[in-house]
Amino acid sequence: LQAKVLAGHHVLVTAGPTFEPIDPVRGLTNHSSGKMGFALARAAREAGAEVTLVAGPVHLRTPRGVRRVDVQTAQQMLQAVLAHVEQATVFVAAAAVADWRPARAAERKLKKDGGGPPPALAFVENPDILATVAALPRARRGELYCVGFAAESHDLLRHARAKRARKGVPLLVGNIGPATFGRDDNALLLVDEREAVELPPAPKIVLARQLVGEIARRLGHV
Ligand code: C5P
Repeated sequence: LQAKVLAGHHVLVTAGPTFEPIDPVRGLTNHSSGKMGFALARAAREAGAEVTLVAGPVHLRTPRGVRRVDVQTAQQMLQAVLAHVEQATVFVAAAAVADWRPARAAERKLKKDGGGPPPALAFVENPDILATVAALPRARRGELYCVGFAAESHDLLRHARAKRARKGVPLLVGNIGPATFGRDDNALLLVDEREAVELPPAPKIVLARQLVGEIARRLGHV
């Protein structure tokens, strides 16, 4: 039985990939399964928090007691996050948000008959949801604790430290090891202003509970 270390808190979590349309039947996405974000939502709920989960397109069941908002694109994810962030005291960005989206989605399906060249896609940058939230006055004042994730192929500690500074968040969590996408277990590297702590390989729900404990400790609740 876990203590209700986040009682009185409202935790807002993003999870899963985004889907950026190219035309009505096609789009760009990635292999994020959403499992880590959903596990975090579940663990935060178990710890007594009110939880809102903003999810990209994933095939996962909503954890019990969690309010879920489904979105497709990064822009929709940002809007959903901004619509719920006022009440939040903790924001965890676990989603794998597309860095770029097609500059415009075609209104009609792009057709290959006609023999012309393949379509040229132009891209524009998506908003950085985590950096946007971390720059909000409530986050700057320390009333909204922001946690980011990093998936890197090498030099995790260096990249995690740099990303923590770039995003302006107090806690950055690196996924240790390759290809965590879709798997049921993982290992994490927690980087804050003081230290780097490793959570050894375990099922994502176990790591999520540990991470919730680490967040509660940093909020001064444990
Ligand atoms: O910059 P990078 O994508 O590596 O940063 C990863 C972290 O930033 C994750 O916490 C991810 O959820 C968040 N992020 C975001 N919006 C983006 C890109 C990343 O919230 N457009």
